[in-house]
Amino acid sequence: MRPIRKAVFPIAGLGTRFLPATKASAKEMLSVVDKPLIQYAVEEAYAAGIRHMIFVTGRTKRSVEDHFDTAYELENELELAGKTDLLKIARSIAPEDMVCTYVRQSRALGLGHAVLCSKELVGNEPFAVLLADDLMVGEPSAMAQMVEQFSEWRASILAVQNVPLEDTRRYGIVSAENITQDLVNVTGIVEKPTPELAPSTLAVVGRYVLTPGIFKELENLPRGVGGEIQLTDGIANLLRREKVFGYRYKGARYDCGTKLGFLQATVDLGVQHEEIGAEFSAWLDQRRETPAMAR
Ligand code: UTP
Repeated sequence: MRPIRKAVFPIAGLGTRFLPATKASAKEMLSVVDKPLIQYAVEEAYAAGIRHMIFVTGRTKRSVEDHFDTAYELENELELAGKTDLLKIARSIAPEDMVCTYVRQSRALGLGHAVLCSKELVGNEPFAVLLADDLMVGEPSAMAQMVEQFSEWRASILAVQNVPLEDTRRYGIVSAENITQDLVNVTGIVEKPTPELAPSTLAVVGRYVLTPGIFKELENLPRGVGGEIQLTDGIANLLRREKVFGYRYKGARYDCGTKLGFLQATVDLGVQHEEIGAEFSAWLDQRRETPAMAR
């Protein structure tokens, strides 16, 4: 089987949990400190050796295309002003060996349907899927770890993490047998079960390496939970024909599809930021001692 050369970024969701910010703008363009969520995800895929990025877009997502396109005017201005550091930042967003292609999902029919929209662009080879609202931090990157697992097991790999029992209804939850400390053999998967019905607390988070067999499963899938065509249901069907593994990746995850997760990421990455980290930390310390109301 071929190595992982292509990554799919489904970004056609409506982002309702982030209204009003997402009414006319893409959730994936929300910035944590100074970088949009989608750029973190693309950099993660790039660090895993992937060079072809496929975006499944929808209405309000045009800014994503602009972000990864060359900005001649901006580059020209920065060049004339001799701002070489900023010019380097602007140019690094889309390295020359990276290819970006876009396909529209005209109706937000669900994550499974979004992945299916990439079928023609992916073709008959294994591929990665990254949900940009799950911001992953760690070295090596979560996707690099998964690509390494894939090269060993040559089967679909889902990033998994234990979640509190009361949170199972927010995730796809797997039933699984341990293979090693980090790897499980997935025997079943169910989308957003209530805690009473959840087969475990092992949740699938927004990173996948999938074999092209998934497309066949997604093609004839009926709508599932929430009236959406669910990737989880496609994986459940894939399990009947192929092995699927769950991988406990190493690193931190921020659920930036929620306001709380987004703020947590902002604070954690803010204090680590090389330009403003020290100043921001000092401000946080001072803030703890003197609450905003008293300042
Ligand atoms: P979410 O479940 O986070 O949905 O989708 P959402 O629409 O983005 O946000 P909420 O729940 O309304 O706040 C998970 C990922 O799948 C993509 C989203 O863009 C997100 O990256 N997605 C979801 C699609 O591309 N198309 C869909 O039809 C649904």
